[in-house]
Amino acid sequence: MLDAHAKSPARLPLLDVRGLKKAFGGMIAIQNVDLSVPEGSVHAIIGPNGAGKTTAFNCITAFVKPTSGRVYLGGERIDGLPAHVVARHGVARTYQNVRLFPNMTALENVLVGQHRRLKATFWEAIAGTGRFRREEAEARERARHYLAFVGIPRRADDLARNMPYGDQRRLEIARALVGGPRILMLDEPAAGMNPAEGKALVELIGRVRDELGVTVVLIEHHMRVVMAVAERITVFNRGAILTEGTPAEIQADDRVIEAYLGRRSGQIAAPAAEAEPLRQMEARIA
Ligand SMILES: Nc1ncnc2c1ncn2[C@@H]1O[C@H](COP(=O)(O)OP(=O)(O)OP(=O)(O)O)[C@@H](O)[C@H]1O
Ligand SMILES: [Mg+2]
Repeated sequence: MLDAHAKSPARLPLLDVRGLKKAFGGMIAIQNVDLSVPEGSVHAIIGPNGAGKTTAFNCITAFVKPTSGRVYLGGERIDGLPAHVVARHGVARTYQNVRLFPNMTALENVLVGQHRRLKATFWEAIAGTGRFRREEAEARERARHYLAFVGIPRRADDLARNMPYGDQRRLEIARALVGGPRILMLDEPAAGMNPAEGKALVELIGRVRDELGVTVVLIEHHMRVVMAVAERITVFNRGAILTEGTPAEIQADDRVIEAYLGRRSGQIAAPAAEAEPLRQMEARIA
């Protein structure tokens, strides 16, 4: 059902970004960024290090204030709103560098992600009223549900800092999902994952879309993950959009390979995150 929906050509954009620009002092990090993501799709953003991918995410999620441009979610303008209000509109994200509470358990980290759903007041919580206790129990149950959904049901009582890196990334996804978002924005979810974990991540993202009906936008350097999961790909280069297309179109586009290679030629050695896509791109043209 959702699959059929995902393939429908007439879908309206859930996320619509127009002419987004962000300057840090005199340095323009991104400009002229347009992005249209249909509801129920998985959309990838790729591009060399420093191309502006995370900055675009930060502007969309109100983590930083865009210099200019507009962001619409479901037709409603959300740029200029504070981050917590943008989150309430249904925009959830994870971070390039994992941001968990290291000394809290996995369950507690997910509970933090759903505070906006809770209705009990501070005084009801202090008094331990029926509503508070019921909400607390429901919140824990929901948190456990999402830990299981992302594949780490047995980690509930583990401290975040003691969890393997791949599980920490899954935990971040659980925390983002528990608030019931409309769109999930993942910043390099496969970073630090081995190929088997990358494959499991592709499967998880598919389930996020198909079972939860959540639209996904991901920034990713691992081309195998990108090509397997994305319906469309936007390529960033030097703060602007180089091109956009299907995985097949992007793989066949020499400008994309040049963007990565050009970047590499100016460096002594490509960083690990960049080496993988380069290797795969080069394998294609070899
Ligand atoms: N808060 C900030 N202050 C100043 N400059 C910034 C800030 N955030 C990002 N930049 C700069 O903006 C440019 C784009 O950075 P950004 O992190 O968006 O790139 P990216 O495409 O996500 O790269 P990577 O693949 O390495 O994560 C870089 O030149 C970066 O140094
Ligand atoms: Mg980044």
